[in-house]
Amino acid sequence: MAGEMHYNDYLQLDKILNAQTPESIQQNLPAHDEMLFIIIHQTYELWFKQLHHEIDSILHIMKKPAMNDNSPELQTVVHRLNRMVIVLRVLVHQIDILETMTPMDFLDFRDMLRPASGFQSWQFKELEAKLGLKYESRYGQEYYISKLRAEQIEIIKKAESERSLLELVNAWLERMPLAPVYLGEENGNFWNGYRDRYQDSLAEVERDNLSSFDEIFFGDNETGTTRPHRSLSPGACRAALFIMLYRGYPLLQLPFQLLNALLEIDEQLSSWRYRHMNMVHRMIGTRIGTGGSSGKDYLKAAADRHYIFKEIAQLNSFLIERRKLPVLPSELEKRLGFVAS
Ligand code: HEM
Repeated sequence: MAGEMHYNDYLQLDKILNAQTPESIQQNLPAHDEMLFIIIHQTYELWFKQLHHEIDSILHIMKKPAMNDNSPELQTVVHRLNRMVIVLRVLVHQIDILETMTPMDFLDFRDMLRPASGFQSWQFKELEAKLGLKYESRYGQEYYISKLRAEQIEIIKKAESERSLLELVNAWLERMPLAPVYLGEENGNFWNGYRDRYQDSLAEVERDNLSSFDEIFFGDNETGTTRPHRSLSPGACRAALFIMLYRGYPLLQLPFQLLNALLEIDEQLSSWRYRHMNMVHRMIGTRIGTGGSSGKDYLKAAADRHYIFKEIAQLNSFLIERRKLPVLPSELEKRLGFVAS
């Protein structure tokens, strides 16, 4: 019979707690804060691992063609996305701990790390790719993998070549079952009326929004061909806007939570990027990073460019006041309620 499980063995603490080897100790120039620096990076990487665990399961569910808005699996997707949001919040706050290290404390060991850098965190880049950040959208395209090992580049390229969360969300929105049938969408019934109301809501200086409305919701149909710059198709955008507008109906609550969680993920990732960037500025000023980039300038450009779900955030520009919303056909109202008779 196997012996009793012990806490120490279950968690493999002998490995984890012996995995901190400060370079300053190796070089006989002990720098007190290097332990914090190592532990905080290791903690980040463990949380990145957990984020991968969550997103892999989400992608797996969303790849199933049968997943619809009534399925219990949608609940699982939303639950796990929300967990990712909470983990990301913790990652943002962890910067507080690192900021107890002063620039002079960091200088005690900084040169010993070169050319290692958080920039080589392949787990971070792989996560961005799984969420939907495309190679073409990255800032510093060649640079972003130049410091990685061949096997790590392969991991990221593989993630980039597979269907991302953003692409799967697009497909899920496109197959939203209710809207086209009941809204007379083929004849433009609902959307023509909505467009008129949206137009009425615009201030004089916002008049150009109407051409964006037409492009986003009624532009050429497919993504990737005539609209290479967009990830969401017009049909997917109409479904997403519909969910945002009528989220009060029971059937649309989970879909709304899903879209909301994606925006939260972007917001937390962005908060992390900005806090990291400001910490870097405070720590090394305008000096180049240990990974050889321009330091703060690189991080600022990446932060500005790497929003993944920006097309969903943009849809909020096309909302109108709740009391001005078109009343839905009663058949559709029934379908969106608890009782589908
Ligand atoms: C004293 C603390 C830190 C400093 C001074 C610092 C500095 C930098 C700099 C200058 C870069 C740009 C690339 C380069 O030239 O090296 C960078 C990138 C990066 N760092 Fe840090 N960093 C610190 C802590 C952390 C921590 C705790 C993490 C957690 C994993 C982290 C993760 C990253 C990541 C993921 C990138 C790539 C960002 C991107 O490409 O968008 N850094 N860091």
